[in-house]
Amino acid sequence: MKLREDFLWGGATAANQYEGAYLEDGKGLSIADVEMGSRHGVPRMIHDEVHEGCYYPSHEGIDFYHRYKADIAMYAKMGFKCFRLSINWPRIFPRGDEDEPNEAGLQFYDRVFDELLKYNIQPIVTLSHYETPLYLVQKYGSWRNRKLIDFFERYCEVVLKRFHHKVKYWMTFNEINETMNQKEPYHQAGIRYLEGENPADVKLLVSHHMMLASAKAVILAHSINSELKMGCMFQYPTTYAKTCHPNDVLAQRYHMMPNFYYGDVMCRGYYSNTCTAQMKRMGGHLQMQPGDEELLKRGVVDYIALSYYFSSISSSPDAHQLIVDRDNPYLKRNEWDWPIDPLGLRIGLNELYDRYQIPLFVVENGLGAIDHIEEDGSIQDDYRIEYLARHIDALRDAVELDDVDVIGYTCWGPIDIISVGTGEMRKRYGFIYVDKDDEGKGTLERREKKSFEWYKKVIASNGYDTSF
Ligand code: BG6
Repeated sequence: MKLREDFLWGGATAANQYEGAYLEDGKGLSIADVEMGSRHGVPRMIHDEVHEGCYYPSHEGIDFYHRYKADIAMYAKMGFKCFRLSINWPRIFPRGDEDEPNEAGLQFYDRVFDELLKYNIQPIVTLSHYETPLYLVQKYGSWRNRKLIDFFERYCEVVLKRFHHKVKYWMTFNEINETMNQKEPYHQAGIRYLEGENPADVKLLVSHHMMLASAKAVILAHSINSELKMGCMFQYPTTYAKTCHPNDVLAQRYHMMPNFYYGDVMCRGYYSNTCTAQMKRMGGHLQMQPGDEELLKRGVVDYIALSYYFSSISSSPDAHQLIVDRDNPYLKRNEWDWPIDPLGLRIGLNELYDRYQIPLFVVENGLGAIDHIEEDGSIQDDYRIEYLARHIDALRDAVELDDVDVIGYTCWGPIDIISVGTGEMRKRYGFIYVDKDDEGKGTLERREKKSFEWYKKVIASNGYDTSF
């Protein structure tokens, strides 16, 4: 197999890290809007409301809201075939539970999609990328509450009906598997535990609600326009056994279970033995309601979108404990200690395709790095080019040598945006540098890095020329 002629090359972003204009044109607050950036080693802090004098990176993002035309023109210059962005849910439903949408919010996305289409760039849309309306969290307890399914469905109905002629590829929840992997899934599900709650039960319940909501969105989309392609989205954590000791090999399987938990439900349409075993391991219980199983069966996705940044290793001293770390002696790491493992992408693509046999779309991959501006104003980001080149080579091998069906590749943050993990700006992924620092200061001026021309060449060669 060769890479498809219509392979979707581009870049990926999320509204809360990019758009800014956090209250403009009627937008409500999202959970991202009350999260401060990390400062001098102090982790990110979540507030209940916006406090005066505090810096919240999402409020300005890097101001895509007002600069989208210029940014899209730069993507077009690189030859993008597609561009992934999320719709900021509280821009459409400011509180989340209204009957009528905010027309001004819808018009913003009309303008953005039209601008992309002007250059033949396909918009690829994430329906929920860490932007749950804050009001739904505070009034309803977020995804613990089944009502969120209805609110999400209404939001999906509005945007799918409005944009189905402009957007073909959609995905429901960004990195849904992180709901289980994170200690407290605030970004994914707006969850901070209440006193007395059993975290395992909460994770199973909110995951169930989100997967039902996803199934409803898939069914709805297909009924609105049968051409639409609906995907789920995982963070794919390729994991190796630390040694060939059977305990470590079992640990590797255990580590993958919470991830396949979502894949099995969203791609196969039912809670498999992997899922029920995972529930047992967590010590949690899930009570389903009549009709849930049927809904999950009908709402399976058309493709899998995945993010891949690094691989991990797992071990177990006694076949019960599970130890996962990134201490792989064969791999170098980036400045944030993320191992760099291109082959891990090829392995992950194989594992996913073997298991589910539906098309894969790599919608995030990239190197977060600190860039330096040279005296002549240039940014020589060879480290980024090397990372991306090796990963694209690995993707091509997965297609050409392993016959995996991959439909596209959008690297993360083609323009420098706010980091989700830390709220920093200095962790940059882009081909386009943005003048802004961790304190929120800077002119927001954009400039091309060395990687800009390189990616243009990669796209022009349909991924066959990654040389540098
Ligand atoms: C993914 C998220 O987890 O990783 C993105 O979908 C995020 O929103 C990306 O930005 C990179 O992580 P970070 O912490 O470097 O921004």
